[in-house]
Amino acid sequence: MTPRVTVPELGRLKRAGQRIVCVTAYDYTFAKLFGEAGVDILLVGDSLGMVILGHETTLPVTLEQMIHHATAVVRGAGRALVVCDMPFGECHGPAHRVMDAAVRILKESGCQAVKLEGGVRMVETIRYLTGHHIPVMAHVGLTPQSVHAFGGFKVQGRGEAAAQVLEDALAVEQAGACAVILEGIPTPLATQVTQRLTIPTIGIGAGPGCDGQVLVGYDLLGLFDGVRPRFVKHYLEGGQTVMEAVARFAQEVRDGVFPAPEHGFDP
Ligand code: KIV
Repeated sequence: MTPRVTVPELGRLKRAGQRIVCVTAYDYTFAKLFGEAGVDILLVGDSLGMVILGHETTLPVTLEQMIHHATAVVRGAGRALVVCDMPFGECHGPAHRVMDAAVRILKESGCQAVKLEGGVRMVETIRYLTGHHIPVMAHVGLTPQSVHAFGGFKVQGRGEAAAQVLEDALAVEQAGACAVILEGIPTPLATQVTQRLTIPTIGIGAGPGCDGQVLVGYDLLGLFDGVRPRFVKHYLEGGQTVMEAVARFAQEVRDGVFPAPEHGFDP
C-alpha cells in the first residue's frame, strides 16, 4: 500500500510546487472513496453540523460528534492524512484545556492533526499544542465559527481588513501551525499570504493562488443543497442522481419488480 501522507510532507509539497488536494469527509465509505481517488488530506470538518446534521451553522457540533465521525474516516482513509476540526467552544480557555480535547481527538480517532479557527488570538494555544507535538492546521479569514460576530458568512479581508488576515496567517505560522486554511478572502490577498508563508495555504473561496484547495465533499458531489457559495463547483449532480436511483427503487418495489426471484434464497 502507498504510504500515508505525513504532516512534514505538506511542507515538502509546497516547496516542490505540488498542489495539495483536500476534501472533507465524515464517514468510512466516503473516506475510502476519496482516499482511493488520490486526495492528500481528508478533513473531518465541523461543517458536518450543517451537511450531515442539518444545523444552520457549525456551532452546535460537539467534541463527541467530531471524534465519532473522525474515527470512521480514519478507518477508510488509506494513504490520506486525516485532520479533525476542533469544535466551537473547545478551543477557548486555557491552552492546557484545549490540549485535553486535542489529545482525546488524536487518541480516540487515530487522526494525525487537529484544525482550529482563528489567527493572532489563537497563537498561545497553537504554540502550546505544537510544543507538545500535536500538529495543528490553522484557519483564518472567513472562519465559520465566527458567523455571529461577522454577521453572516461574509468575505473577510477586503480593503484595510487585509492587513489583519496577513497578520493572522503570519502569526499562526510563527506559532508552529503545519498549514493554514484561507477561507473567503479576496484572491490577491490569498496569493500574497501564500507567497509570504513557508507553510502551505489551503484555499476555499480564496482563488487559485493558494498551495492547495479544499472543498466540502458533499458540495463537490452536488449532494448538499443548503448554502451554495460562488466558490463551490459541483463535479457531479449527486443529489439528482441519488433521487433518481431511489425513485426507481420505489417504483420497482411498488410494481412488484424488485426483489426478483434471483434476489431470494433457495430452501
Ligand atoms: O468545517 C469545514 O468543512 C471546514 C472547511 C470548509 C475548510 O472548515
